Amino acid sequence: VLGLETLLDLPGLGDDLDRVEDALHQAVRSDDAFLTEVASHLLDAGGKRLRPALTVAVGRLAAGSASEAVVLGGASVELVHVGSLCHDDVIDEATTRRSVETVNARWGNLVAILTGDFLLARASELAATLGPEVSELLAATIGHLCEGQVRELRHAFDVGRTEDAYLAAIAGKTASLLSTSCRIGALTAGLGPVEVAALTEFGRQVGMAFQVVDDLLDLVGTSEALGKPAGHDLVEGVYTLPVIWALAEADTGAQLKELLGRPLSADEVERARAVVRSNGAITAAADLARRYADAAASALQPLAGGPVVQALAGLGHHLVDSLPL
Ligand code: IPE
Ligand code: IPE
Ligand code: MG
Ligand code: MG
Repeated sequence: VLGLETLLDLPGLGDDLDRVEDALHQAVRSDDAFLTEVASHLLDAGGKRLRPALTVAVGRLAAGSASEAVVLGGASVELVHVGSLCHDDVIDEATTRRSVETVNARWGNLVAILTGDFLLARASELAATLGPEVSELLAATIGHLCEGQVRELRHAFDVGRTEDAYLAAIAGKTASLLSTSCRIGALTAGLGPVEVAALTEFGRQVGMAFQVVDDLLDLVGTSEALGKPAGHDLVEGVYTLPVIWALAEADTGAQLKELLGRPLSADEVERARAVVRSNGAITAAADLARRYADAAASALQPLAGGPVVQALAGLGHHLVDSLPL
């Protein structure tokens, strides 16, 4: 899997992100040593830090290095992300994340739920120091994540899931937080309303591309490269865009209907992945991700050019180009 350096190549970004790291480690400290340990587990395992990278990159549109408010904003969106991952791994019964054991696998579902809550609480506390607008925005975004996840759950094992249902789910569960990551960067850096709106829309479009790519990786990637189990969406009955499209084709649809709609063995998962890969559904989904990447770049047009805008404009296409197709 590609790193952040390839996705957002911007000199100085690493310095801002080091400050985000410090803020994150402070934020997860609890009076309870066990909770501190568990809350630090996924954080210490790494991850791309894409959301705070968006926040601090946007902050660089206003100043050479991020202000303290921008850094705290970046930490708050990563805390929401990691908290939602703790919960997501419970929902998905996942055992590996960021190449380490998930919190639920290591300490059980109860601990994972409480740790996720704790991380969301600490995110909210940080956001509150940034003023009512950021605070309300982050709270609304956590709500959108839940709405997206529930939309997805309601179609588990549903071979009739539509493209619209899929797009509505990923807009909520993923695009909303990427959009908010950019918007918080813009607000805390004090950018004007036109810039704030453009960057919010940019994040939303790039977020759509991001989740379509994540869903493609589940079908074409390997667990080793992903640091999380490949094929897991099919196991969980989450039928993503390429699967929805392959189901709609006469030939692949008939083969898939033999397999899907119920829990699968490891062997059946591989067969289903092979069927989805056997027609144009993968390429078509990658094409859609490219259109979101284009829309993301277009959303930046109201901004004056420069290295930050250039790096942001390339992000969506870097994501799609990283697919092992
Ligand atoms: C995983 O996000 C969850 C999705 C929205 C697909 P990332 O791929 O950004 O996960 P990390 O932060 O790098 O681990
Ligand atoms: C992202 O969806 C879930 C969240 C918004 C937390 P996925 O279920 O696809 O994420 P991964 O693949 O487990 O990282
Ligand atoms: Mg998941
Ligand atoms: Mg996924």
